Amino acid sequence: MIRRSVITGTGSALPKRRLDNAELAKMVDTSDEWIVARTGILSRYIAGPDETTSTLATAAAREAIAAAGIEASSIDLIVLGTTTPDQTFPATATTVQANLGCNGGIAFDVAAVCSGFLYALGVADSMLRSGMAQRALVIGAETMSRILDWEDRGTCVLFGDGAGAIVLEAQESDDPAARGILATRLHADGAHNEMLFVDGGPSTTGTVGKLRMRGKEVFKHAVTNLSDVLREVLELSGVSASELDWVVPHQANARILDATARKLGLPMEKVIVTVDRHANTSAASVPLALDAAVRDGRIKPGQLVMLEAMGGGFTWGASLLRM
Ligand code: UT7
Repeated sequence: MIRRSVITGTGSALPKRRLDNAELAKMVDTSDEWIVARTGILSRYIAGPDETTSTLATAAAREAIAAAGIEASSIDLIVLGTTTPDQTFPATATTVQANLGCNGGIAFDVAAVCSGFLYALGVADSMLRSGMAQRALVIGAETMSRILDWEDRGTCVLFGDGAGAIVLEAQESDDPAARGILATRLHADGAHNEMLFVDGGPSTTGTVGKLRMRGKEVFKHAVTNLSDVLREVLELSGVSASELDWVVPHQANARILDATARKLGLPMEKVIVTVDRHANTSAASVPLALDAAVRDGRIKPGQLVMLEAMGGGFTWGASLLRM
């Protein structure tokens, strides 16, 4: 008997306020032309005072629960990837649990920045397959706008807010081709901490801090690390790149998506792109893109889908699954 973690529902949530490049160009010395040419971003969503990481995460979770057709009370595990929690503690996952009224199970946050959803998925998958839980909510949720330096044009134009969620549940089958997560690989390299970090924290400055990035260096590492981990997961699962139906990448920059796809010989028609309308939503970007493609009918049950992400730490990873 094979026990696999199967996605049975997806959901997402975006803040009410959409900020396009033209409006941003009135706030900081930039232009629509520069942002589009260098990143492919046209707009992003920015959380208002009544919107937080937990409110966005809860809204996305509610959609995923409705799509799965289950009761929230049956969720016994919540793993939330975020780098912008509501508070230093408790974990934002516990706030979401209380909002959903599914108290009593396991709930915690995972901090792996833009790879947060991939890390959360890897942890949840391990816990489901080991029998520690049966039905999980895996969420990526961020309010990156709260840690941006709005005077630094090199970073503030790149990020946005949002949340995506999936219901992931353990299912048993004799069929080796059964649905579910087939292989995941996660990596980190702390030697590159200073290329992408926040210049504050509870134990150092006692402040929240602002995001700092050496964009050019991060770009190069992203393309190399992502193509390496994609090859690793393909090899591990005995699947060739041409057999993939879809790739759902972390949405940092359209040029990173192009360069990574080219390295693997993947046509861009197989790559789900939302960076144009969402910008980089860190841990939320993969589940936001996944939900968009499930809802518009591109990603269908039974298809082979690769998820991948890379972010601060550095952290990176990829996961292959049959929907
Ligand atoms: O989520 C995972 C982590 N994040 C990423 O993966 C992001 C990775 N990096 C990138 O996406 C790109 O490196 C950026 C989009 C951040 C920057 O693109 P780039 O082609 O590497 O540009 P650059 O940093 O080399 O800057 C080129 C020029 C500079 O001017 P000079 O020195 O050539 O005169 C910048 O000052 O563009 C200037 N610049 C801007 N101009 C207008 C930088 N930001 C802006 C801006 N508007 N917003």
